[in-house]
Amino acid sequence: MCGIVGYIGHREAYPIIIEGLKRLEYRGYDSAGVALFDGENLKVSKTKGKVSDLEILCEKENTKNGSLGIGHTRWATHGVPNDVNSHPHISNSGNLVIIHNGIIENYESLKKELISRGYTFKSDTDTEVLINLIEEIKKNENVKLGKAVQLALNEVVGAYAIAVFDKNRPEEIIIARLGSPLAVGVGKDEYFIASDASPFLEYTKNAIYLEDEEMAIVSIEKGIKVRKIKDDSLVAPYIQELKLNLEQIEKGGYDHFMLKEIHEQPKAITDTYRGRLLRSEAIIKMAGVEDNMKKFLNANRFIIVACGTSWHAGLVAEYIFEDIARIPVEVEYASEFRYRNPVITENDVVIAISQSGETADTLAAIKLAKSKGAFVFGVCNVVGSSIARETDAGAYTHAGPEIGVASTKAFTTQITVLTLMALRLARAKGTISSSDFRHHLLELEMIPKKVEKALEEDEHIKKIADIYKNSRNCLYLGRGYNFPVALEGALKLKEISYIHAEGYPAAEMKHGPIALIDENMPIVVIATKKGHYEKVVSNIQEIKSRKGKIIGIVTEGDEQVRALADHVIEVPETIESLTPLITTIPLQLLSYHIAVLLGKNVDQPRNLAKSVTVE
Ligand code: F6R
Repeated sequence: MCGIVGYIGHREAYPIIIEGLKRLEYRGYDSAGVALFDGENLKVSKTKGKVSDLEILCEKENTKNGSLGIGHTRWATHGVPNDVNSHPHISNSGNLVIIHNGIIENYESLKKELISRGYTFKSDTDTEVLINLIEEIKKNENVKLGKAVQLALNEVVGAYAIAVFDKNRPEEIIIARLGSPLAVGVGKDEYFIASDASPFLEYTKNAIYLEDEEMAIVSIEKGIKVRKIKDDSLVAPYIQELKLNLEQIEKGGYDHFMLKEIHEQPKAITDTYRGRLLRSEAIIKMAGVEDNMKKFLNANRFIIVACGTSWHAGLVAEYIFEDIARIPVEVEYASEFRYRNPVITENDVVIAISQSGETADTLAAIKLAKSKGAFVFGVCNVVGSSIARETDAGAYTHAGPEIGVASTKAFTTQITVLTLMALRLARAKGTISSSDFRHHLLELEMIPKKVEKALEEDEHIKKIADIYKNSRNCLYLGRGYNFPVALEGALKLKEISYIHAEGYPAAEMKHGPIALIDENMPIVVIATKKGHYEKVVSNIQEIKSRKGKIIGIVTEGDEQVRALADHVIEVPETIESLTPLITTIPLQLLSYHIAVLLGKNVDQPRNLAKSVTVE
């Protein structure tokens, strides 16, 4: 939540910051702002709205000059999204300026204290409190900005990634992180600061990722000094070479990132199993699993913790771990798990799933599980993310950057990783025969081609989207492995088109939701041949007799559902456990087209943000 960008060096900071903010807009897009120092003046422009609104404002206010600057795109936590609450915030003296991603939980008591000392506040934000606290400490203790930031951060409770500078010391920017990501791009006599590396990829491939509880003084004269916030000890910065390229984070000819990412799934799934699925040798190799095989095999049960789409991937994994590896699994919303005093023992394996690797609730669930002695395994997409670092071991999904706020390729690649794990553990436990194992490997290897085939239904799906785009409600039904897919299909529709949608296990329909069905209700039913086909066909008949409009997701060549449904969307056949990887595709496309036809902002739906770093 919230994206931050900073620049100090010899170039004009403004274009770097604006382009960077556009790339980070997926993290929040309620409001945006920039502060620039041109050698004489500090200029701040900020506004409610998107980075494009900020650009118009900067043009009007002529906020464009200077080779030192910071910028922010916001997802509101404290204070409504308006111009005043937008970042950057300036201290009372007018000298210090800050951008902040996160929450200062004890801001109210700090604010009271500062007010009693004569400070005034323009905004409702916790961030304006922080910058004035820094100012107060700097003045009172007579210390430099870096020290003042450090002392202030030791007084605050909460989470942050911040960048601060003093217009009287324009040769340095102070940055710090706790719970929100922060990277520094290291160029020649110039530095880039950002929530992720995307804003500076075209300038440098050398990056330092700050760890939690670290701060850095980024100085054009003295280089970078990294310190622990708590005890002031120096840390040797580790400069890593980025493998990402710009093409990976651009739209590549697609109208939206979401559509690009839907179409990237064949490649993303291949990248996920590449080097792990070795079919000719009939083995699966996953370092994080091999190194901890004992823990996995001795586990009483697996507890999967995640949020949103990642939680849906966890539900699919529950089916496959239990079905193939015969391991009992519980799947928990991380946000509930962390607060309900769960029974966790040293013999539990906790699997945390997260695309961003930054989700606050999932991170807190991991910390809780670790404190109880459980072994925690992470399934993340973002390399080096907080969750990837906090877990005992893990496996990356290798989906590449996911920019569209609605998760697509993250979901299918998470399922791919979890399937590989289940198969590997099943082999080790002997719960799968060698011929069945080989068959699974073969089928998994064929999934990318089948996903490509499913994507070919795009035009047909668009026509169906046009028919139902004005529906007010929609039901999604599926059974077994496809029940979580129904939940995910409903979530996709809700979040990008704002149409109310519910996912249900098909048989549960009779226990309530059937009352909703009339001739205006579209019902998407996943009715592929594998699994509980005949039973789902009976459910379809029940819908039909209540005049509901049926959109069937069926196996190629299906006749039975075709005869009953109003529309069918065909997908290639595969084994039951792998069907979610294919049946998800038409549901993603259906939501996408409905949202586009309704004129919604597909990549940045209202009120959402890509990584939810607040609870
Ligand atoms: C839905 C979506 C969210 C995320 C959830 C968890 O399309 O993107 O529901 O899945 O916020 O995020 P991660 O996976 O980053 O932990």
